Amino acid sequence: MDQQTVTLITGTNKGMGLEIALELGQRGQTILVGARNRERGQAAVTQLAEQGVQATFIQLDVTDATSIAQAAQQIKTDYGYLSILINNAGAAFDQHQAPATLPTSVMRRDFDINFFGLIDVTQALLPLLLKAPAARIINISSMMGSLTASLMPGAETYRASAVGYQASKAAANMFTVQLAKQLAATDAAITVNAVDPGMVATEFGGSSAATAQARGAKTPAEGVARTVALATRPTIDTATFTNTHGIVPW
Ligand SMILES: NC(=O)c1ccc[n+]([C@@H]2O[C@H](COP(=O)([O-])OP(=O)(O)OC[C@H]3O[C@@H](n4cnc5c(N)ncnc54)[C@H](OP(=O)(O)O)[C@@H]3O)[C@@H](O)[C@H]2O)c1
Repeated sequence: MDQQTVTLITGTNKGMGLEIALELGQRGQTILVGARNRERGQAAVTQLAEQGVQATFIQLDVTDATSIAQAAQQIKTDYGYLSILINNAGAAFDQHQAPATLPTSVMRRDFDINFFGLIDVTQALLPLLLKAPAARIINISSMMGSLTASLMPGAETYRASAVGYQASKAAANMFTVQLAKQLAATDAAITVNAVDPGMVATEFGGSSAATAQARGAKTPAEGVARTVALATRPTIDTATFTNTHGIVPW
């Protein structure tokens, strides 16, 4: 990538998004801080600046078509292309309700952000990714979305009960595979991959980072290591689902 690497991360105002922004900014990438809330996004930009990373805030609610269109237009005007899109924004609303009774209204909320939001952002930015000499789409998925792991008694996620969240991540995995195959069949130099960060100490799901850490969650730096590798290695494969140890089952 001879051009300046321009990287947009969704959900950058805290958690793993903020850590990814910091680490990729420290490696010289131009960071666009996607956040749905202006105040929280600007606070993240300030926090990054204090750590030596100059980043730019972009208002981006992945469930809002107008916000997505405006973000795409801003990137087009300011840069004319996008090198890396990291679909990190995510949420889970299931509250451990059982599959037999979890309301579909709750599942729709999971899907709106984790699946449809991810797709809307990706489709809107694809024309700008196609303008970069070699672009990457990295979807922050989860082992919670692995059908194979959910059937393996020894797996960390075997006992998980969040069918809306899990299904939305499984669906996002399928989008990853299908888009990767479509792009690989053309001249487009764009890879599309899914990452499992593992259990990470953030405020995800409404808990505190300290509570998650007490349950054995990894630090944000450990959680983003695979994503940072995919965003910085000179060449990478496409259509993969990996964590820091390698390939994980779809
Ligand atoms: N933490 C874990 O153990 C874990 C494990 C596997 C996968 N993941 C995945 O990792 C990703 C990052 O999670 P995290 O742990 O860093 O959680 P987090 O600290 O809760 O951060 C989630 C981010 O997503 C943003 N977001 C939520 N809804 C959004 C929307 N509609 N539009 C734009 N941004 C929105 C949040 O913004 P607000 O502050 O405005 O809400 C926040 O910046 C998620 O995709 C999650 O599913 C997490």
